[in-house]
Amino acid sequence: MHTHRFLITGKKKLEGEVKVGGSKNAALPIIAASLLVSEPVTLTNVPDIEDISTMEHILHYIGVRTEHEGDKMVIHAKAIADREIEHELVSKLRASILFLGPLLARNGEVKLAFPGGCVIGKRPVDAHLMSLSALGAQINEDHEVLHLECGQLKGADIVMTEASVTATENVIMASVLAKGTTTVRFAAAEPHVQDLCKFLNVMGAKIEGIGTHTLVIKGVKKLHGGQYRIAPDYLEAGTLVLAAAITKGTVDVLDIEPHHLDIFWQKLREVGVHFELGKDMVRVLPSSELKAVRLQTAIFPSFPTDLQAPFATLLTQAKGKSFIFETLFDGRLQYLYELEKMGVKPNILNPYQAEIEGPVSLKGASVSSCDIRAGAAMLIAALAAEGETEISNIYYIDRGYERLDEKLNSIGAQIKRVK
Ligand code: EPU
Repeated sequence: MHTHRFLITGKKKLEGEVKVGGSKNAALPIIAASLLVSEPVTLTNVPDIEDISTMEHILHYIGVRTEHEGDKMVIHAKAIADREIEHELVSKLRASILFLGPLLARNGEVKLAFPGGCVIGKRPVDAHLMSLSALGAQINEDHEVLHLECGQLKGADIVMTEASVTATENVIMASVLAKGTTTVRFAAAEPHVQDLCKFLNVMGAKIEGIGTHTLVIKGVKKLHGGQYRIAPDYLEAGTLVLAAAITKGTVDVLDIEPHHLDIFWQKLREVGVHFELGKDMVRVLPSSELKAVRLQTAIFPSFPTDLQAPFATLLTQAKGKSFIFETLFDGRLQYLYELEKMGVKPNILNPYQAEIEGPVSLKGASVSSCDIRAGAAMLIAALAAEGETEISNIYYIDRGYERLDEKLNSIGAQIKRVK
């Protein structure tokens, strides 16, 4: 974990074009799913971020060789060591829970310390364990280590307790090689879950219902190697669009999949942001007056929780009282206390709901980034603030965004990284 900070000089209009990188939340399960394949798997458009390096580090720890150059990663999972993945490794990354499904399917056993990661509310692992046990996994749980064993996994009809993203991904990865057919009801359908399914199908899996909340997975004997391009990161795309919108600049955000953000575009229109959507790009245009809206997060295809804080930051510039309702996480309004230091006077009703009255003249201040998306929100606020903003704890921003400072600087922002 590094201790870099950002120093941002605000009020610079963003202009030009910027390309979105590969999706973090798609790359993480796809890297884990590569453990299901003994032949080499070549991934392209892999984002260069801390979370991916941590994931790759865990692959090495269990004896899997990788070749990684630029955005291309080749994974050779010919043999996998039967080794407990220790706390020190998993504490950095909650997504290390994604090793449960593939290691269980491939080795018949997995031992993983309880995962860590961003501090955004309590996220239990029950949804993961319940669905894997339905496929035949035996769970030997103690307080510190998740220990799962199985013989041949068997297809089952599974109803998820909630449409959890990584739990759905785990059950998909465990069932592609199971005997028989698995039906997953109330599956998460986020773009990254879809991307994992598409990847597995390219490697020979049989998954139907991609993009819906019911997946039907016909088990196959074996997957084969191949090549796959990770989908563009819709969360990075949304973040860049919001950055452009708050500075009232004209910016082309390239290499996006517009349908991953349908509801986001709807909300932007409602707020009054001008933009033009192309096949795989969006042009953000300067807008005059922004209007307050009600913003409520929910599972895909609803408004993504991961864009709540960045979007609410734009709402500080909208006229009237906006209402924020975060329905997934109970710790995801913390950034509002940081925005308070920049002049916003949020009315935080409870851990899920808040009101923001705008427009606010944002002022540079010293703020901290409490998770990946809160960090992005701080950057967006800083771009529109009078004077200089200092953001500490940018380790979190680097965990989720590929050189966000450099990307924003390339379109006119003034962000200095201080080591
Ligand atoms: N939840 C509900 N109802 C649901 C589904 C989830 O209330 O139908 C709640 C859960 O109880 C939990 C929260 O929502 O409090 C998130 O649960 P989930 O299990 O879906 O989260 P996750 O799989 O651990 C992934 C992403 C997160 C993202 C969430 C929600 C990855 C590696 N992580 O986490 O990404 O916020 O889904 O979409 O895909 C990030 O990128 O910054 C990040 C934290």
